[in-house]
Parts: sequence; C-alpha cells; structure tokens
Amino acid sequence: MFVNTIIFNYCCSVQPLLETIYMKSGPHSHMRLTKNLPKPTYYAAALNGEFAQHAYNEERAIEFCGKWRSLAFSSPLDQPLDLEIGTGNGFYFTHHASTHKDRLLLGIELKYKPLIQTIRRALRAGCENARIARYNANFIWELFEDEELNNVYIHFPDPWIKKSKKKNRLINTKFLNQLFTKQKEGMFVEFKTDSLDYFEWAMEFFEASSYRVEHVTRDLHNSEFAESNFETHFEKIFLKQNIKINYTKVFKS
Ligand SMILES: C[S@@+](CC[C@H](N)C(=O)[O-])C[C@H]1O[C@@H](n2cnc3c(N)ncnc32)[C@H](O)[C@@H]1O
Repeated sequence: MFVNTIIFNYCCSVQPLLETIYMKSGPHSHMRLTKNLPKPTYYAAALNGEFAQHAYNEERAIEFCGKWRSLAFSSPLDQPLDLEIGTGNGFYFTHHASTHKDRLLLGIELKYKPLIQTIRRALRAGCENARIARYNANFIWELFEDEELNNVYIHFPDPWIKKSKKKNRLINTKFLNQLFTKQKEGMFVEFKTDSLDYFEWAMEFFEASSYRVEHVTRDLHNSEFAESNFETHFEKIFLKQNIKINYTKVFKS
C-alpha cells in the first residue's frame, strides 16, 4: 500500500514535470528548454532578453530551419552562410565574422555563458553578420535543410577521453552523413583538436565518409597551414602547455 502510494505520487507529480522540462519527443527532445529553467541565470535570461535579436533559444532556432538567411539575417538567399559549432567565448567567431563581412556566420553553443559571451563579443566588434543559437550540436540536422550551409568550423570539441564516454563524441558516422547533406557542394569542414586520440578517431570517420580529406597535420603550428591559422581561446591554452594541435580540412566535392 505504502509502495503503491509512492508510485502514484511519482506518476502524478514528478513524471509530468520531467515531461515538460524535456519535451517527450520530436525536435529538441534531447535538450532542457530555456523556458523551463527554474532559476535562469543572467546569461539564460539575456538569451531571451537583451540579446534576443541576435541570439536564439532552442525553440526559436528550430523555426529558422531552411530560412536562416531570409528570416534570421534578412539577407539574400545567395549569401554564404557559415557555421561554427561550439563557439566557446567567441574569439574565433568574432574574428571570422569581422574578417568575412560578405558572409553570414551562425554559431551553435549549448551553454548559456559562452553563448552570450560569443554574441556580445561579436556585436561589440560591429559584426551585424553574426547570429548564435542555443542547440545541441549532436542533433544539428534538426536546424537545417539540405544544402543550406556553406563552410563549417569545429574547433576543440569536447574530447570525451574516457573509454565509456567516447560514444558522446560529436564526430561519428551519423553526424558526418547529416552534415554532408546540409552543406553545399564544394564547401569544407575545418576540424581542430588537441587530443590525438580524438583526432585519430575522427580521421577514421572522415575517411569513411563522403567527404574528401584534403589537409591533415598532427602538428598544425609546424605545418604549411600555420600561417593562415587563427588561434582560438582553447588553442592558446594548449599551446602554452606545448601540446601539438591536430588539424584537418575535408571537402564536399
Ligand atoms: C572546449 S570548448 C572550445 C571552444 C572554442 N571552439 C575554442 O576553440 O576556444 C567546447 C565548446 O563546445 C561547447 N559544446 C560542447 N558540447 C556541445 C554540444 N553538444 N552542442 C553545442 N555546443 C557544445 C561547450 O559549451 C564549449 O563552449
């Protein structure tokens, strides 16, 4: 009787709560929705408030699928749209947007603080061609129509070093197949990581995918690609520790 009461109480109170916090199925079912945060931090509130014109929560982001250029950027359909996945505090994001004023740049970031830091940095630098969305990059295909994207930048994604956690790595067969279909012909993916283990893992997936692997180095800063490279925030941290940076650029063509 006592156990039945506990189960009944759980079903009536906790279960519906969990279902509203994480949507049960469909798009962004894998994410906690910003609107359901019990106590939004300054950063979570800023996403829907101060920065709402340039930063989108997960529910708004999905509405732009297939219409990023026209709806989010009010730009012509033929303007290139690049994507940075996991922007961190936005140094590369701002560099890219400010040095490619003729292109649009969308960032995808899961955590509120780096997301706001990123868009704030870009706006302070006058980058009107930049937008950011809160989304889980593992489900990136929910955000784009086929061939909607130009170039994609993935710099220092979480390496998930422990054997039991490697399944969380962003680079895998499904992710690359999906990303490939979302990019236009002739475009590339740039991938950098400090983790040699992750790099070797990623290279196996890149080589088995439909991408054409063109540039590969396990020591970026002593390679022919060093001159055109921009050091990201995490890259600087690893370089100070004398860790070599692994780099590849793969093409859809
Ligand atoms: C190690 S940091 C690298 C930041 C930046 N790219 C750099 O090089 O300085 C990884 C970033 O990816 C974000 N991130 C991790 N998992 C993510 C996911 N599934 N979707 C979107 N962003 C994610 C983290 O919040 C973090 O800001």
